[in-house]
Amino acid sequence: MVKPVAKLFQNPEKNIMAEIGKTAALMHDVIDLSIGDPDMTTPQPIIDAASQAMLDGQTHYTASYGAPEYLQAIVDFHNQKFGSHYQLENVRATVGASHATDLAFGALLDPGDEVIIFDPYFTPYEIQVKQYHATPVFVACKVENNFQPQKADIEAAITEQTKAILVNSPSNPTGAVYDEATLQGIADLAKKYDLYLLADEVYWPYVFNEHQYLPLENFAPERTLVTGSLSKVFAMTGFRIGYLLGPAEIIDAAGLLNEGVTYTAPSMAQFAGSFGLQNFAELSQPLQAEFKQRLNYLGTELNKLPWAKTIPIAGSIYLFLDISGSGMDDVTFSDYLLEKAGILVIPGRAFGPAGQGFVRIAATQNMAELEKAVAGFKSLNFEKESLSK
Ligand SMILES: Cc1ncc(COP(=O)(O)O)c(C=O)c1O
Repeated sequence: MVKPVAKLFQNPEKNIMAEIGKTAALMHDVIDLSIGDPDMTTPQPIIDAASQAMLDGQTHYTASYGAPEYLQAIVDFHNQKFGSHYQLENVRATVGASHATDLAFGALLDPGDEVIIFDPYFTPYEIQVKQYHATPVFVACKVENNFQPQKADIEAAITEQTKAILVNSPSNPTGAVYDEATLQGIADLAKKYDLYLLADEVYWPYVFNEHQYLPLENFAPERTLVTGSLSKVFAMTGFRIGYLLGPAEIIDAAGLLNEGVTYTAPSMAQFAGSFGLQNFAELSQPLQAEFKQRLNYLGTELNKLPWAKTIPIAGSIYLFLDISGSGMDDVTFSDYLLEKAGILVIPGRAFGPAGQGFVRIAATQNMAELEKAVAGFKSLNFEKESLSK
């Protein structure tokens, strides 16, 4: 007999996302709108910068906190773009935003602490909090509020144990972009109850139409940690490169933790990332234009279906579609859509209970594939009541 694994993993809940990933890998002739990995190849100049870095011998560990060139590029970028006041002591290279979030939680949380997370949410947050023996507390966001969290709901969830509020805008999976009043309300609560704010900004340039990206760090800089990523902004998911920004003492604590985790981030990815940030507009704008076109197209066409509707397109690379008018729940609907139309999406409940009745459609296929997908959606027939539009 050997002792069992940690209690946290002894009775794992069904992981819908992981199962869909396995299904997608096995299937052929399917329009895969499930995974949030941009379909475009990384812009060639960034690939060239990574190659050149390796040819120049950048194949070693960098300093544990990151290569100075990369850290400077991040600080310059944020200070110029968002009017922030970061210095090198406020930043650390990470292996993507997931690693940054994990380090931030590790630096902040003691056993028994609570973190407020808005439901529906990017699923990995939950285990990231629990592994530090802390508790995620979910606050449901509603479609009638365009999935903006409500200040009164947040305040009702705050307890003596609350340590931080996690904010992901533009949101995965809902596509909501939090407006100024929402962000101000969150910052006011953080100040009133002395809480940290953790801003997951991986989709920040993907903000469309009349909406505007407002960085949370500008509302409460003294208590905000930012987890940044180059995965989505430059289609660099495989490079595994991101960063953590925030107050120096938190960055230092994250550094101590990371000595025993990844030590540093991949060196060639840091040099590729520096190049990307220094040439941001030119390299990122084509991706932004493409996702804007795709989401606006999907929003317009799918809203024509009597049994489906979405909130106005605001941001991210996802569309969160209300399919409750089909008369099916989101899991049954997703299975039916796959079987009848060969389209793979993710049932909303994979992102938390508030996602029930929705499916997440990732716009990570080209326009020709999306046109086929729209035709597939339109081929479905439901004899249910139309949703009020
Ligand atoms: C909201 C959110 N945060 C973080 C990540 C992870 O990003 P990275 O590839 O930088 O680890 C994702 C990836 O899908 C995401 O959707």
